[in-house]
Amino acid sequence: NYLGLDLGTSSLKALIIGEDQRPIASVSVPLTVERPHFGWSEQDPAAWIAACQTALERLKTEHGEALAAVAGIGLSGHMHGATLLGADETVLRPCILWNDTRSHQEAAELDDDESRAITGNIVFPGFTAPKLLWVARNEPEIYAKVRRVLLPKDYLRLWLTGEAVSEMSDAAGTAWLDTGRREWSGRMLEKTGLSIDHMPRLVEGTEVSGQLRPELATRFGLTPGIAVAGGGGDNAASACGVGVAEPGTGFLSLGTSGVLFTAVAGYHPVPETALHTFCHAIPGLWHQMGVTLSAAGSVEWLSQLLKEEPAALTGALGEELGEPGRLVFLPYLSGERTPHNDADIRGVFAGLDAGSDRAAMTRAVLEGVAFSMRDSVTAGGGTSPQRLIAVGAGSRSAYWLKLMATVLDTEIALPEAGDFGAAFGAARLGLCAATGEDPKSVMTEPPIARRFTPDRDKADAYAAAYERYRRLYPAVKAAMA
Ligand code: XUL
Repeated sequence: NYLGLDLGTSSLKALIIGEDQRPIASVSVPLTVERPHFGWSEQDPAAWIAACQTALERLKTEHGEALAAVAGIGLSGHMHGATLLGADETVLRPCILWNDTRSHQEAAELDDDESRAITGNIVFPGFTAPKLLWVARNEPEIYAKVRRVLLPKDYLRLWLTGEAVSEMSDAAGTAWLDTGRREWSGRMLEKTGLSIDHMPRLVEGTEVSGQLRPELATRFGLTPGIAVAGGGGDNAASACGVGVAEPGTGFLSLGTSGVLFTAVAGYHPVPETALHTFCHAIPGLWHQMGVTLSAAGSVEWLSQLLKEEPAALTGALGEELGEPGRLVFLPYLSGERTPHNDADIRGVFAGLDAGSDRAAMTRAVLEGVAFSMRDSVTAGGGTSPQRLIAVGAGSRSAYWLKLMATVLDTEIALPEAGDFGAAFGAARLGLCAATGEDPKSVMTEPPIARRFTPDRDKADAYAAAYERYRRLYPAVKAAMA
Protein backbone atom coordinates (compact mmCIF):
# COMPACT_ATOMS: atom_id res chain seq x y z
CA ASN A 1 0.00 0.00 0.00
CA TYR A 2 0.96 3.67 -0.33
CA LEU A 3 0.17 6.64 1.86
CA GLY A 4 -0.50 10.16 0.57
CA LEU A 5 -0.38 13.07 3.01
CA ASP A 6 -1.82 16.36 1.78
CA LEU A 7 -1.25 19.36 4.01
CA GLY A 8 -4.12 21.63 2.93
CA THR A 9 -4.81 25.12 4.24
CA SER A 10 -7.96 24.03 6.09
CA SER A 11 -7.20 20.35 6.75
CA LEU A 12 -4.56 17.65 6.57
CA LYS A 13 -5.71 14.64 4.63
CA ALA A 14 -4.19 11.15 4.77
CA LEU A 15 -5.15 8.57 2.13
CA ILE A 16 -4.01 4.95 1.82
CA ILE A 17 -4.23 3.31 -1.61
CA GLY A 18 -3.57 -0.31 -2.53
CA GLU A 19 -1.17 -1.81 -5.07
CA ASP A 20 -4.01 -1.43 -7.60
CA GLN A 21 -4.29 2.27 -6.58
CA ARG A 22 -7.78 1.80 -5.16
CA PRO A 23 -8.46 3.95 -2.09
CA ILE A 24 -8.50 1.87 1.10
CA ALA A 25 -8.84 4.43 3.89
CA SER A 26 -8.75 8.16 4.40
CA VAL A 27 -8.93 10.57 7.30
CA SER A 28 -8.98 14.32 7.44
CA VAL A 29 -7.97 16.52 10.38
CA PRO A 30 -9.00 20.20 10.43
CA LEU A 31 -6.46 23.05 10.58
CA THR A 32 -7.03 26.71 11.35
CA VAL A 33 -5.51 29.88 9.90
CA GLU A 34 -4.55 32.81 12.12
CA ARG A 35 -5.05 36.34 10.82
CA PRO A 36 -3.47 38.56 13.50
CA HIS A 37 -3.37 41.65 11.23
CA PHE A 38 -4.99 42.82 8.02
CA GLY A 39 -3.56 40.83 5.09
CA TRP A 40 -1.73 38.36 7.34
CA SER A 41 -2.31 34.61 7.13
CA GLU A 42 -0.30 32.26 9.33
CA GLN A 43 -0.16 28.74 10.67
CA ASP A 44 1.88 27.25 13.49
CA PRO A 45 4.01 24.41 12.03
CA ALA A 46 3.48 22.52 15.30
CA ALA A 47 -0.21 22.28 14.33
CA TRP A 48 0.77 20.46 11.11
CA ILE A 49 2.73 17.87 13.08
CA ALA A 50 -0.11 17.51 15.59
CA ALA A 51 -2.60 17.03 12.73
CA CYS A 52 -0.35 14.45 11.10
CA GLN A 53 0.00 12.57 14.39
CA THR A 54 -3.79 12.59 14.84
CA ALA A 55 -4.28 11.34 11.28
CA LEU A 56 -1.75 8.52 11.71
CA GLU A 57 -3.18 7.54 15.10
CA ARG A 58 -6.67 7.33 13.61
CA LEU A 59 -5.43 5.26 10.69
CA LYS A 60 -3.60 2.98 13.12
CA THR A 61 -6.75 2.47 15.21
CA GLU A 62 -9.21 2.15 12.35
CA HIS A 63 -7.07 0.70 9.54
CA GLY A 64 -3.97 -0.68 11.30
CA GLU A 65 -3.43 -3.50 8.81
CA ALA A 66 -3.61 -1.20 5.81
CA LEU A 67 -1.17 1.20 7.48
CA ALA A 68 1.26 -1.61 8.34
CA ALA A 69 1.33 -2.60 4.65
CA VAL A 70 2.37 0.89 3.48
CA ALA A 71 5.57 0.67 1.42
CA GLY A 72 5.94 4.30 0.40
CA ILE A 73 4.73 7.75 1.45
CA GLY A 74 4.16 10.83 -0.72
CA LEU A 75 3.65 14.43 0.40
CA SER A 76 1.65 17.31 -0.98
CA GLY A 77 0.91 20.69 0.53
CA HIS A 78 -0.13 24.29 0.13
CA MET A 79 2.64 26.13 -1.65
CA HIS A 80 4.73 29.27 -1.07
CA GLY A 81 4.68 29.29 2.77
CA ALA A 82 7.81 30.44 4.62
CA THR A 83 8.70 28.14 7.52
CA LEU A 84 11.73 29.69 9.25
CA LEU A 85 14.07 27.45 11.20
CA GLY A 86 16.94 28.43 13.49
CA ALA A 87 19.73 26.37 15.01
CA ASP A 88 18.68 22.76 15.77
CA GLU A 89 15.77 23.17 13.32
CA THR A 90 13.68 25.11 15.86
CA VAL A 91 10.72 27.03 14.39
CA LEU A 92 11.36 30.79 14.75
CA ARG A 93 7.89 32.21 14.03
CA PRO A 94 4.51 31.10 12.62
CA CYS A 95 4.65 30.09 8.94
CA ILE A 96 3.63 32.95 6.61
CA LEU A 97 1.17 31.38 4.16
CA TRP A 98 0.53 31.56 0.40
CA ASN A 99 -2.43 33.92 0.79
CA ASP A 100 -0.65 36.38 3.08
CA THR A 101 -0.23 39.74 1.32
CA ARG A 102 1.92 41.67 3.81
CA SER A 103 5.02 41.53 1.59
CA HIS A 104 3.49 43.20 -1.50
CA GLN A 105 6.04 46.02 -1.35
CA GLU A 106 8.97 43.58 -1.11
CA ALA A 107 7.52 41.51 -3.96
CA ALA A 108 7.36 44.58 -6.19
CA GLU A 109 11.00 45.37 -5.35
CA LEU A 110 12.20 41.84 -6.17
CA ASP A 111 10.17 41.61 -9.38
CA ASP A 112 12.43 42.81 -12.20
CA ASP A 113 13.68 41.59 -15.57
CA GLU A 114 16.44 39.56 -13.94
CA SER A 115 14.14 37.76 -11.48
CA ARG A 116 11.65 37.03 -14.27
CA ALA A 117 14.46 35.67 -16.46
CA ILE A 118 15.70 33.36 -13.70
CA THR A 119 12.43 32.19 -12.13
CA GLY A 120 10.10 32.42 -15.14
CA ASN A 121 7.48 34.16 -13.03
CA ILE A 122 6.43 37.49 -11.63
CA VAL A 123 7.43 37.67 -7.97
CA PHE A 124 3.96 37.59 -6.39
CA PRO A 125 3.43 38.81 -2.79
CA GLY A 126 2.34 35.27 -1.86
CA PHE A 127 5.66 33.73 -2.94
CA THR A 128 8.31 32.81 -0.37
CA ALA A 129 11.25 35.10 -1.21
CA PRO A 130 9.52 38.47 -0.56
CA LYS A 131 8.38 37.15 2.82
CA LEU A 132 12.03 36.81 3.87
CA LEU A 133 12.71 40.41 2.89
CA TRP A 134 9.71 41.44 4.98
CA VAL A 135 11.05 39.50 7.98
CA ALA A 136 14.51 41.04 7.48
CA ARG A 137 13.00 44.52 7.67
CA ASN A 138 10.31 44.04 10.28
CA GLU A 139 11.62 41.26 12.52
CA PRO A 140 15.42 41.61 12.20
CA GLU A 141 16.08 39.65 15.41
CA ILE A 142 14.24 36.65 13.92
CA TYR A 143 15.83 37.06 10.50
CA ALA A 144 19.29 37.00 12.12
CA LYS A 145 18.55 33.53 13.50
CA VAL A 146 17.33 31.96 10.24
CA ARG A 147 19.44 28.92 9.31
CA ARG A 148 16.95 27.28 6.97
CA VAL A 149 13.72 28.02 5.11
CA LEU A 150 11.32 25.19 4.35
CA LEU A 151 8.04 24.97 2.46
CA PRO A 152 5.13 23.67 4.55
CA LYS A 153 5.04 20.06 3.37
CA ASP A 154 8.85 19.94 3.57
CA TYR A 155 8.63 20.75 7.27
CA LEU A 156 6.35 17.72 7.61
CA ARG A 157 9.04 15.72 5.79
CA LEU A 158 11.69 16.94 8.24
CA TRP A 159 9.57 15.50 11.05
CA LEU A 160 8.91 12.26 9.15
CA THR A 161 12.46 11.57 7.96
CA GLY A 162 14.82 13.96 9.75
CA GLU A 163 15.91 15.26 6.33
CA ALA A 164 15.66 18.79 4.94
CA VAL A 165 14.62 18.19 1.34
CA SER A 166 12.35 19.90 -1.16
CA GLU A 167 11.29 19.01 -4.70
CA MET A 168 10.98 20.93 -7.93
CA SER A 169 7.27 21.74 -8.15
CA ASP A 170 7.02 23.43 -4.76
CA ALA A 171 10.50 24.96 -4.96
CA ALA A 172 9.42 26.71 -8.19
CA GLY A 173 6.91 28.75 -6.16
CA THR A 174 9.54 30.33 -3.92
CA ALA A 175 11.09 32.78 -6.47
CA TRP A 176 14.47 31.28 -5.48
CA LEU A 177 14.52 28.53 -8.12
CA ASP A 178 16.10 28.69 -11.54
CA THR A 179 12.97 27.05 -12.91
CA GLY A 180 14.43 26.11 -16.31
CA ARG A 181 17.49 24.40 -14.77
CA ARG A 182 15.62 22.92 -11.80
CA GLU A 183 18.21 24.16 -9.28
CA TRP A 184 18.39 26.88 -6.63
CA SER A 185 19.46 30.28 -7.91
CA GLY A 186 22.33 31.73 -5.87
CA ARG A 187 21.53 35.11 -7.37
CA MET A 188 17.87 35.11 -6.28
CA LEU A 189 18.83 33.89 -2.80
CA GLU A 190 21.42 36.65 -2.55
CA LYS A 191 18.72 39.25 -3.24
CA THR A 192 17.05 38.23 0.02
CA GLY A 193 20.33 37.95 1.96
CA LEU A 194 20.35 34.13 1.86
CA SER A 195 22.54 31.48 0.24
CA ILE A 196 22.23 27.88 -0.99
CA ASP A 197 23.16 26.79 2.57
CA HIS A 198 19.77 28.02 3.77
CA MET A 199 17.97 25.80 1.26
CA PRO A 200 17.01 22.14 1.52
CA ARG A 201 18.47 19.62 -0.93
CA LEU A 202 16.36 19.20 -4.09
CA VAL A 203 14.94 15.99 -5.54
CA GLU A 204 12.31 15.26 -8.18
CA GLY A 205 8.79 14.57 -6.88
CA THR A 206 9.01 10.88 -7.85
CA GLU A 207 12.39 10.33 -6.17
CA VAL A 208 13.13 9.11 -2.65
CA SER A 209 13.77 12.08 -0.36
CA GLY A 210 14.43 10.13 2.84
CA GLN A 211 13.27 7.23 4.99
CA LEU A 212 10.64 7.15 7.70
CA ARG A 213 12.25 7.55 11.14
CA PRO A 214 12.22 4.29 13.15
CA GLU A 215 10.57 5.95 16.22
CA LEU A 216 7.60 7.04 14.11
CA ALA A 217 7.35 3.64 12.44
CA THR A 218 7.17 1.95 15.85
CA ARG A 219 4.68 4.46 17.21
CA PHE A 220 2.18 4.25 14.35
CA GLY A 221 2.72 0.65 13.31
CA LEU A 222 4.39 1.49 10.02
CA THR A 223 7.37 -0.31 8.48
CA PRO A 224 10.67 1.34 9.50
CA GLY A 225 12.75 2.84 6.72
CA ILE A 226 10.04 3.04 4.04
CA ALA A 227 10.64 5.63 1.33
CA VAL A 228 9.21 9.13 1.53
CA ALA A 229 8.92 10.57 -1.99
CA GLY A 230 9.70 14.16 -2.94
CA GLY A 231 5.98 14.67 -3.56
CA GLY A 232 4.62 17.93 -4.96
CA GLY A 233 2.99 21.29 -4.39
CA ASP A 234 -0.79 20.85 -4.16
CA ASN A 235 -1.50 21.68 -7.80
CA ALA A 236 1.25 19.46 -9.22
CA ALA A 237 0.16 16.66 -6.87
CA SER A 238 -3.48 17.11 -7.99
CA ALA A 239 -2.28 16.84 -11.58
CA CYS A 240 -0.65 13.51 -10.69
CA GLY A 241 -3.95 12.49 -9.08
CA VAL A 242 -6.02 13.14 -12.21
CA GLY A 243 -3.45 11.70 -14.59
CA VAL A 244 -2.04 14.89 -16.09
CA ALA A 245 1.37 13.45 -16.96
CA GLU A 246 1.60 14.05 -20.72
CA PRO A 247 2.44 17.37 -22.37
CA GLY A 248 -0.68 19.10 -23.71
CA THR A 249 -3.03 17.57 -21.16
CA GLY A 250 -4.32 19.47 -18.17
CA PHE A 251 -6.98 19.97 -15.58
CA LEU A 252 -9.56 22.64 -14.96
CA SER A 253 -10.39 23.14 -11.31
CA LEU A 254 -13.60 25.02 -10.59
CA GLY A 255 -13.35 25.58 -6.86
CA THR A 256 -13.74 28.91 -5.08
CA SER A 257 -10.88 29.95 -7.34
CA GLY A 258 -10.37 28.51 -10.81
CA VAL A 259 -7.15 26.88 -11.97
CA LEU A 260 -6.19 25.92 -15.50
CA PHE A 261 -3.16 23.63 -15.24
CA THR A 262 -1.38 22.34 -18.35
CA ALA A 263 1.59 19.99 -18.45
CA VAL A 264 4.28 21.16 -20.88
CA ALA A 265 7.33 19.35 -22.28
CA GLY A 266 9.79 22.23 -22.12
CA TYR A 267 10.37 25.39 -20.16
CA HIS A 268 8.49 28.23 -21.91
CA PRO A 269 7.92 31.01 -19.38
CA VAL A 270 5.67 34.00 -20.12
CA PRO A 271 6.02 35.95 -16.87
CA GLU A 272 4.52 39.18 -18.21
CA THR A 273 1.12 37.47 -18.50
CA ALA A 274 0.90 36.48 -14.82
CA LEU A 275 0.73 32.85 -15.92
CA HIS A 276 2.77 30.69 -13.53
CA THR A 277 5.46 28.49 -15.05
CA PHE A 278 6.51 25.89 -12.49
CA CYS A 279 8.20 22.50 -12.59
CA HIS A 280 5.89 19.48 -12.59
CA ALA A 281 6.33 16.86 -9.87
CA ILE A 282 7.27 14.48 -12.70
CA PRO A 283 10.88 14.67 -13.98
CA GLY A 284 11.42 16.42 -17.31
CA LEU A 285 8.05 18.19 -17.29
CA TRP A 286 6.96 21.70 -16.41
CA HIS A 287 3.49 23.11 -16.08
CA GLN A 288 1.73 26.33 -16.79
CA MET A 289 -0.98 27.47 -14.49
CA GLY A 290 -3.47 30.30 -14.79
CA VAL A 291 -5.50 31.29 -11.76
CA THR A 292 -8.77 33.18 -11.65
CA LEU A 293 -9.57 34.12 -8.07
CA SER A 294 -13.39 33.82 -8.12
CA ALA A 295 -14.67 30.87 -10.16
CA ALA A 296 -17.28 28.79 -8.31
CA GLY A 297 -16.87 31.64 -5.81
CA SER A 298 -18.68 33.91 -8.29
CA VAL A 299 -21.60 31.48 -8.56
CA GLU A 300 -21.62 31.22 -4.77
CA TRP A 301 -21.86 35.01 -4.53
CA LEU A 302 -24.78 35.16 -6.98
CA SER A 303 -26.45 32.29 -5.17
CA GLN A 304 -26.37 34.15 -1.86
CA LEU A 305 -27.66 37.29 -3.49
CA LEU A 306 -30.56 35.53 -5.25
CA LYS A 307 -31.22 33.16 -2.33
CA GLU A 308 -31.06 30.06 -4.47
CA GLU A 309 -28.61 27.15 -4.29
CA PRO A 310 -25.81 27.16 -6.93
CA ALA A 311 -27.02 23.81 -8.30
CA ALA A 312 -30.56 25.19 -8.71
CA LEU A 313 -29.28 28.33 -10.44
CA THR A 314 -27.10 26.47 -12.94
CA GLY A 315 -29.56 23.56 -13.25
CA ALA A 316 -32.27 25.99 -14.42
CA LEU A 317 -30.22 26.64 -17.57
CA GLY A 318 -30.70 23.02 -18.70
CA GLU A 319 -27.94 21.18 -20.52
CA GLU A 320 -28.33 22.57 -24.02
CA LEU A 321 -25.77 25.34 -24.54
CA GLY A 322 -27.45 28.60 -25.52
CA GLU A 323 -26.08 31.52 -27.52
CA PRO A 324 -23.92 33.90 -25.46
CA GLY A 325 -25.95 36.57 -23.72
CA ARG A 326 -25.60 40.33 -24.18
CA LEU A 327 -24.95 40.66 -20.47
CA VAL A 328 -21.24 40.54 -19.61
CA PHE A 329 -19.80 39.73 -16.18
CA LEU A 330 -16.19 40.31 -15.08
CA PRO A 331 -15.60 37.82 -12.24
CA TYR A 332 -13.08 39.94 -10.37
CA LEU A 333 -14.81 39.80 -6.98
CA SER A 334 -11.44 39.43 -5.21
CA GLY A 335 -9.23 41.02 -7.86
CA GLU A 336 -7.62 38.90 -10.57
CA ARG A 337 -4.36 36.95 -10.90
CA THR A 338 -4.06 35.71 -14.52
CA PRO A 339 -3.70 37.63 -16.77
CA HIS A 340 -3.96 41.02 -15.05
CA ASN A 341 -2.15 40.48 -11.73
CA ASP A 342 -4.44 43.18 -10.39
CA ALA A 343 -5.39 43.01 -6.72
CA ASP A 344 -7.48 46.20 -6.88
CA ILE A 345 -9.78 45.48 -9.82
CA ARG A 346 -13.37 44.49 -8.96
CA GLY A 347 -16.15 42.80 -10.88
CA VAL A 348 -18.91 44.31 -12.97
CA PHE A 349 -22.12 43.40 -14.83
CA ALA A 350 -22.26 45.31 -18.10
CA GLY A 351 -25.28 45.49 -20.37
CA LEU A 352 -28.11 45.05 -17.86
CA ASP A 353 -31.56 45.70 -19.26
CA ALA A 354 -35.08 45.67 -17.87
CA GLY A 355 -35.46 42.05 -18.93
CA SER A 356 -32.29 40.76 -17.23
CA ASP A 357 -33.51 37.95 -15.01
CA ARG A 358 -31.80 35.37 -12.83
CA ALA A 359 -31.18 33.03 -15.77
CA ALA A 360 -29.48 35.84 -17.72
CA MET A 361 -27.35 36.75 -14.71
CA THR A 362 -26.41 33.14 -14.01
CA ARG A 363 -25.42 32.61 -17.63
CA ALA A 364 -23.35 35.81 -17.61
CA VAL A 365 -21.53 34.65 -14.48
CA LEU A 366 -20.75 31.22 -15.99
CA GLU A 367 -19.61 32.88 -19.21
CA GLY A 368 -17.48 35.47 -17.39
CA VAL A 369 -15.61 32.77 -15.51
CA ALA A 370 -15.19 30.73 -18.71
CA PHE A 371 -13.74 33.79 -20.46
CA SER A 372 -11.38 34.42 -17.54
CA MET A 373 -10.11 30.83 -17.98
CA ARG A 374 -9.82 31.49 -21.72
CA ASP A 375 -7.53 34.40 -20.76
CA SER A 376 -5.14 31.84 -19.26
CA VAL A 377 -5.04 29.94 -22.57
CA THR A 378 -4.47 33.21 -24.43
CA ALA A 379 -1.67 34.10 -21.98
CA GLY A 380 0.04 30.77 -22.69
CA GLY A 381 0.17 31.52 -26.43
CA GLY A 382 -3.39 30.62 -27.41
CA THR A 383 -2.98 26.89 -28.03
CA SER A 384 -5.71 25.03 -26.20
CA PRO A 385 -4.79 21.89 -24.26
CA GLN A 386 -5.79 18.65 -26.03
CA ARG A 387 -7.97 17.63 -23.12
CA LEU A 388 -8.85 18.88 -19.65
CA ILE A 389 -10.06 16.90 -16.66
CA ALA A 390 -12.67 18.87 -14.72
CA VAL A 391 -12.54 18.90 -10.92
CA GLY A 392 -14.02 21.01 -8.14
CA ALA A 393 -17.55 21.94 -7.05
CA GLY A 394 -18.31 23.82 -10.30
CA SER A 395 -17.72 20.69 -12.39
CA ARG A 396 -21.12 19.41 -11.25
CA SER A 397 -22.79 21.78 -13.74
CA ALA A 398 -23.07 20.09 -17.13
CA TYR A 399 -24.03 23.43 -18.71
CA TRP A 400 -20.86 25.04 -17.40
CA LEU A 401 -18.64 22.23 -18.71
CA LYS A 402 -20.27 22.35 -22.14
CA LEU A 403 -19.70 26.12 -22.14
CA MET A 404 -16.08 25.69 -20.97
CA ALA A 405 -15.41 23.11 -23.72
CA THR A 406 -16.73 25.57 -26.33
CA VAL A 407 -14.94 28.66 -24.97
CA LEU A 408 -11.64 26.83 -24.34
CA ASP A 409 -12.00 24.86 -27.58
CA THR A 410 -11.05 21.54 -26.06
CA GLU A 411 -12.57 18.33 -24.76
CA ILE A 412 -13.46 18.40 -21.08
CA ALA A 413 -13.67 15.07 -19.26
CA LEU A 414 -15.59 14.73 -16.02
CA PRO A 415 -14.34 11.88 -13.81
CA GLU A 416 -16.69 9.48 -12.07
CA ALA A 417 -17.20 10.31 -8.39
CA GLY A 418 -14.04 9.46 -6.46
CA ASP A 419 -10.99 10.64 -4.66
CA PHE A 420 -8.53 11.98 -7.27
CA GLY A 421 -7.15 14.98 -5.42
CA ALA A 422 -3.75 16.01 -4.12
CA ALA A 423 -3.59 13.27 -1.44
CA PHE A 424 -4.16 10.65 -4.16
CA GLY A 425 -1.48 12.27 -6.33
CA ALA A 426 0.88 12.26 -3.35
CA ALA A 427 0.21 8.55 -2.76
CA ARG A 428 1.00 7.90 -6.44
CA LEU A 429 4.30 9.79 -6.05
CA GLY A 430 5.00 7.60 -3.00
CA LEU A 431 4.35 4.55 -5.18
CA CYS A 432 6.79 5.80 -7.84
CA ALA A 433 9.53 6.45 -5.26
CA ALA A 434 9.08 3.08 -3.57
CA THR A 435 8.87 0.95 -6.73
CA GLY A 436 10.78 2.96 -9.33
CA GLU A 437 7.83 2.51 -11.71
CA ASP A 438 7.53 4.83 -14.71
CA PRO A 439 5.43 7.83 -13.54
CA LYS A 440 3.56 7.97 -16.84
CA SER A 441 2.24 4.45 -16.39
CA VAL A 442 1.28 5.19 -12.77
CA MET A 443 -0.40 8.58 -13.34
CA THR A 444 -3.30 7.33 -15.45
CA GLU A 445 -6.61 9.09 -16.07
CA PRO A 446 -9.47 8.39 -13.67
CA PRO A 447 -12.57 6.60 -15.01
CA ILE A 448 -14.53 9.20 -16.97
CA ALA A 449 -18.27 9.67 -16.44
CA ARG A 450 -18.95 12.17 -19.24
CA ARG A 451 -17.07 13.98 -21.99
CA PHE A 452 -17.98 17.46 -23.20
CA THR A 453 -16.88 18.62 -26.63
CA PRO A 454 -16.95 22.13 -28.14
CA ASP A 455 -20.20 23.19 -29.80
CA ARG A 456 -18.72 24.16 -33.18
CA ASP A 457 -21.91 25.92 -34.33
CA LYS A 458 -21.64 28.39 -31.48
CA ALA A 459 -17.87 28.86 -31.49
CA ASP A 460 -17.95 32.09 -33.52
CA ALA A 461 -20.61 33.67 -31.33
CA TYR A 462 -18.59 32.82 -28.21
CA ALA A 463 -15.38 34.11 -29.80
CA ALA A 464 -17.13 37.45 -30.42
CA ALA A 465 -18.48 37.51 -26.86
CA TYR A 466 -14.96 36.83 -25.56
CA GLU A 467 -13.67 39.88 -27.45
CA ARG A 468 -16.40 41.98 -25.83
CA TYR A 469 -15.34 40.63 -22.44
CA ARG A 470 -11.69 41.49 -23.14
CA ARG A 471 -12.51 45.09 -23.99
CA LEU A 472 -14.27 45.58 -20.69
CA TYR A 473 -11.31 45.21 -18.30
CA PRO A 474 -9.32 48.25 -19.50
CA ALA A 475 -12.53 50.31 -19.60
CA VAL A 476 -13.53 49.36 -16.05
CA LYS A 477 -10.00 49.86 -14.80
CA ALA A 478 -9.85 53.35 -16.26
CA ALA A 479 -13.36 54.26 -15.04
CA MET A 480 -12.90 53.06 -11.46
CA ALA A 481 -9.32 54.24 -10.92
C1 XUL B 1 -0.67 28.21 -6.10
C2 XUL B 1 -1.42 28.71 -4.92
C3 XUL B 1 -2.35 27.77 -4.23
C4 XUL B 1 -1.67 27.27 -2.98
C5 XUL B 1 -2.65 26.86 -1.91
O1 XUL B 1 0.09 29.19 -6.71
O2 XUL B 1 -1.28 29.82 -4.50
O3 XUL B 1 -2.76 26.74 -5.04
O4 XUL B 1 -0.78 26.24 -3.30
O5 XUL B 1 -3.47 25.86 -2.23
